[in-house]
Amino acid sequence: MVDIRAKISLTGGSDFWHTPAVTAADLPELMWTDGPHGVRKQSGSSDHVGINASEPATCFPPAVGLASSWDTELVEQVGVALGEECRALGVGVLLGPGLNIKRSPLCGRNFEYFAEDPLVAGELAAALVSGVQSQGIGTSVKHFAANNQETDRMRRDSQVDERTLREIYLRGFGKVVRKAKPWTVMCSYNKVNGTYASENHWLLTEVLRDEWGFDGVVVSDWGAVWSRVRALRAGLDLEMPANAAHEKEVRQALDAGEIDAGTIEQAYDRVEAVVRRAQASLAGAPEDFDVDGHHALARRMAEQCVVLLSNDGVLPLARETRVAVVGEFARTPRYQGAGSSRVNPTRLDNALDAISALVGHEVPFAPGFVTAAGQELADDAHERAVAVARDADVVLAFLGLGESHESEGYDRNNADLPAEQLALLEDILAVNPNVVVVLSNGASVLLPFADRVRAIVEGWLLGQAGGAVLADVVYGVVNPSGKITETIPRRLADVPSSLHFPGDVSGVRYGEGLFVGYRGYDASGIEPAFPFGHGLSYTTFGYSDLALATTDAGLAVSLTVTNTGGRSGREVVQVYVSVPGSAVVRVPRELKGFASVALEPGASARVEIAISSDDLAYWSVRDHAWVVEGGEYLVEVGASSRDLRLSGTVAVAGNEPSRPLALDSTVAEAMRVPAFAEIISGLAGAVFGEDPDLIRMMESIPLAALAGFGGQSLDEVQAMLDQVNATRSGGA
Ligand code: BGC
Repeated sequence: MVDIRAKISLTGGSDFWHTPAVTAADLPELMWTDGPHGVRKQSGSSDHVGINASEPATCFPPAVGLASSWDTELVEQVGVALGEECRALGVGVLLGPGLNIKRSPLCGRNFEYFAEDPLVAGELAAALVSGVQSQGIGTSVKHFAANNQETDRMRRDSQVDERTLREIYLRGFGKVVRKAKPWTVMCSYNKVNGTYASENHWLLTEVLRDEWGFDGVVVSDWGAVWSRVRALRAGLDLEMPANAAHEKEVRQALDAGEIDAGTIEQAYDRVEAVVRRAQASLAGAPEDFDVDGHHALARRMAEQCVVLLSNDGVLPLARETRVAVVGEFARTPRYQGAGSSRVNPTRLDNALDAISALVGHEVPFAPGFVTAAGQELADDAHERAVAVARDADVVLAFLGLGESHESEGYDRNNADLPAEQLALLEDILAVNPNVVVVLSNGASVLLPFADRVRAIVEGWLLGQAGGAVLADVVYGVVNPSGKITETIPRRLADVPSSLHFPGDVSGVRYGEGLFVGYRGYDASGIEPAFPFGHGLSYTTFGYSDLALATTDAGLAVSLTVTNTGGRSGREVVQVYVSVPGSAVVRVPRELKGFASVALEPGASARVEIAISSDDLAYWSVRDHAWVVEGGEYLVEVGASSRDLRLSGTVAVAGNEPSRPLALDSTVAEAMRVPAFAEIISGLAGAVFGEDPDLIRMMESIPLAALAGFGGQSLDEVQAMLDQVNATRSGGA
C-alpha cells in the first residue's frame, strides 16, 4: 500500500534529473535527461543550461539539420540509436524532440526545432519519437505550447488566435501524439493566452488528453511550475526538477481539502506507469553502445541534411583544384546548439582535416576570425586570410554563427553574420571572385553576398560527423539533397512576424496569424533569398504525370520523378494544397505531403503521397472544430514552395457541419441553400429590384435586416427559416 504522501513525492523530482524511488511500491528512481539529439547524462554537478560536462554520447545533427533531410526513415533510425544510448547510459526518458514552430529566424533556440511548418515538423518529430520508444525508452515532446522565442521565455504571454493556434502551433504536437504516442509531453514556460502552460487546463487536459487521447505524463519544463497544486489540477503530472516547497504546498492543500486525493493519485499512476516501462527496458541493458556504428549513422544522417543553396557550376570541386580554406569553423566545427541540449560527443570530425584527406595533402588554411571566446587570434589574422585566398583557384570560406550568437535563453537581435566575417568575405572577394561559402548556423542568416559568391553550402548544425560531410559535399563524394524548412529572408523586415516579435511585458501578439514563414511571404508576394523547401543537387530531376484522386482517407497524389542529370541523387518532392474558392481565410498554399526518392541517372520512379483528411482540414472558429471544406482543391507539386512543377485540381466532398440558417445569416449564405434561394431572391427583389450592383451589395445583409427593409416581422422570417431548416441538411 502506497500512502498518499509517497504518492505526492512522485509528482516531483528527487533532484535535478531523477524521479524518486517509491519503496512501498518497489519503484526505483528514474533518470530523465536531455535530449534531444544526443544523451546528456551529467554525472557530476547538474544544470539545465548546458554548462557542466556530461558523459560521452553520439552527437547527432540537431533538429535544424535533421529537418532539412525530410527523411523520416533515417530520422527514425537516429531515434533507435538514441534509445540504445539511453539504455546503455541508464536514462529512462530522453527530453525531446522539440517541435515548436520557427516563427522568426531570431529565436535563439531555432536550432532545436524543425521547421516553420507544422506538417514537416510533426512528421519528423513523430519519426524520432517512434525510433527512441522502439527501444523501450520514453520521449518528452516539448515545449508545449506556443513557445517560439527565448526573450522572457519563462513569463511571456503568447497571444494567439484560436485558428492560428490550432492550425500552426498545436497541429504538429497533435500529429506526434496521435501517430507516435510519446510517453511524455513537456509543457513550456510561457503563458498561452493568459495562463501559464503549466496551469493551463484547456491545453493540458481538454486538448491534449480529451481531444488527442494522450495518456502519458505531462512533465513541466525545468522550473515552469509556479504552484504544483494549480498545475496538478490543470493536468500536469510531474514537476521537474525537485522542489521541496511545492511538495509541501501539495501536502498542505490536501490537508485543507483544496486538492482531491484523486487528482494526486491519477498523476502518480501516470508517472509510475512511465517509470515501470522504462525500468523494464533498462533492466539488463548492455552497458555499451556501438560508438563507431553510431558515428557512422550520424555521418549518414548529416549527408542528408546539407543544403546546397546556390551553385553556378563551381561545385563539386575536382580534387586537383587549388583551394584555400578560410574560417575557423573549418578547423573548429560548430555542430550543435548551446544550452540544455549540449552533448559531449564521442568524436568530432572537422572539415579541414577531411578536405586534406580527400585531396591527399594539407591545404592552405587561415582562420581569419575566432568563433568562440578564449580562442587566440594573431593580430594580422584578417590579412593572412586574404593573402591565402588570393593565391587559390577557389576559396572555401567557412562562415557562421558562434555559440554566443545563438543560444537557448536569449534571442538574436539581428539576423546578420558577424561583422568581422562579412568584412573578411568582402576583402577576399576583392582579390578572388571564386568564393564558395560554407555555412554553420542554427537558424537563417541574411546572405547579402549571395549573388557575388559562386556557391553557398548551408550546413546548419550537423552533429559530430558533420565536418567530414561538408568536405564530401564540396568534392561531390556526397550529392547534396537537403532542402530548407525555414525561409531565408532577404531582409529581416520581410519576415511575416517581424512587427510582432518578440513583444514586451504585456505579451507577444501572434499578429501575423496564419501567415507564418512561407505562408506569409507567398501571400504578400515578397521574394525571399531562398524559399521554403529549396535545395539544389548536382543532378536534375524531371516531374511528370501527376494523378490526383480522392480516397476514403483523404487524397492520393502520384507522379513520376526522373533523374534527368548525370549523377545519382535524391529528390525531396513536396505537395502543396490550396482552396481557391474558399469561404474562409486561406494562405496561398500549404505543405500537405512530401516524399524522398533516390534515383540513378536516367531512372524514373512513381512517387505516391497520401494526404489525410485531417491534414486537409482547417479549424473552423464558428464550429470550434476541424472541418474539411467541400470544393475544388488545387494541388501543386514541386521541388520547393516556389518551384512548382505540376498542378491539378480535385473535387473534395468536405464534411462541413450542417449550420441552420438564422436571422444573422447573410443573404449570400442563404442563397447557397437551394430551398431558400427562391424565397430570398423574391424578398430581395422586392426590396432592391434587379440592379446587379445592388444585388451584390445585398449579399452581406443579414436576413433580419433584409426582412426589416421588406416590412416583414422577425417572427415571420424566423418561422420561414424554421420550416425550411427542418427539411434540409448540409450547411451554408
Ligand atoms: C529546457 C528544456 C530542457 C530542460 C532540462 C530547460 O531549460 O527548456 O528543453 O529539457 O531545461 O534541461
